Amino acid sequence: MKKISPLTHGLRGVIEVPGDKSISHRAIILSSLGDSPVEVTNFLAGADCLSTVACMKALGAIVERTDDRILITGQGLHEPDNILDAGNSGTTLRLLMGLLAPQKFLTTFTGDDSLRRRPMARVIKPLTLMGASIVGRNLNRNLPITILPAERLHGITYAMPVASAQVKSAILLAGLYADSPTTIIEPYPSRDHTEKMLKAFGVRLERIGNAITIFPTNKFTAPESIDVPGDISSAAYWIVLATIKGGSDVTIKNVGVNDTRTGIIDVLRRMGATIELVNERISGGERSADLKVVASKLHGIEFGGEIIPRLIDEVPALAVAAAFAEGTTIIRDVGELRVKETDRLAAIVEEFNKISPATFEATDDTLIIHGRHEKTFATCNTRADHRMAMSLAIFGAAAEGVELDDADCVNISYPNFFDVL
Ligand code: S3P
Repeated sequence: MKKISPLTHGLRGVIEVPGDKSISHRAIILSSLGDSPVEVTNFLAGADCLSTVACMKALGAIVERTDDRILITGQGLHEPDNILDAGNSGTTLRLLMGLLAPQKFLTTFTGDDSLRRRPMARVIKPLTLMGASIVGRNLNRNLPITILPAERLHGITYAMPVASAQVKSAILLAGLYADSPTTIIEPYPSRDHTEKMLKAFGVRLERIGNAITIFPTNKFTAPESIDVPGDISSAAYWIVLATIKGGSDVTIKNVGVNDTRTGIIDVLRRMGATIELVNERISGGERSADLKVVASKLHGIEFGGEIIPRLIDEVPALAVAAAFAEGTTIIRDVGELRVKETDRLAAIVEEFNKISPATFEATDDTLIIHGRHEKTFATCNTRADHRMAMSLAIFGAAAEGVELDDADCVNISYPNFFDVL
């Protein structure tokens, strides 16, 4: 149990957030494919990225770690001695399925209770079209999954039915080893960290509109170092809390502001928030900035479609902001939230309404939030979902307090979240 008291005053001062989760995963995976050491700084030492580290070690990489610095030296990939455990991490599992589908050895994956329920057919289908053999447990292809040794994969052209960076990245990684180029067409642009980092490793990629083509290679020119920017998905909790809590004025340092991730800033600004980007810079092909956020009055808006992949992980935090806004907010096209670490639409409706009754409603793929209803102290269930836990914590802090049944799950992406709060 974790009890969070209501904030007595606005947020003031400077906050630093941990390294970006998506970029940390990719830095470990790609660095393991070269043969020279790569130093990754500001690496997120959260449970999800440590699952990736454990898998890459089992596949042959040498990893030396001190706090948030990590040195990785690739040794070529080899068959692991045991089943690989992706823990709670969809990114670990899906990216490594793409990397391992073309290899000449067998790998079996498992994961925790949440990951074993999540859909894998969306990755298995395109990899199978490329010639991979992957055996899942049932029609939905839930874990455990075994990837059989492969012949050379074929390049394909594949239109993805959902905008998913994990699926796109799996196909790109498999495409690296194929016999011809592979083209992926996304319905809308999803986060492009894999493309950016592959380019930093010397891989040729071309983008025309929503179509990305990768040209196979087995030559990697690994950079000497990769500096991971702070995670905008972790900054989201402070952006929202500072916006809704009167008297706030904070600067969040060194936040990754890649265009495919900044939907939360666009939406909050449309709702009336004051968020300024200062000290913008580029490091390792990724843009970062300090975010200055001042408390503001918000109003409800409606959004959906193309912007959704740019803020998909921030919907629970945005729902908290909408609960403090004047009027109704309607978030369309968020059915993907039903297959995240938990069914986040159901979790928002069931848990957030305990803090602000009759505020949150959902259909299959739409979330509706009626702002400015009365708030009360509540005991809530995080469903072992890190983003639900952190969103409930800031909701309670801005309202009348909250008690969380299981708060340890924040270790997945933000181990010192409660210290900062
Ligand atoms: C991620 C992609 C997104 C996101 C997840 C991280 C990534 O998932 O929700 O937290 O690192 O590629 P989908 O690709 O399933 O949309």
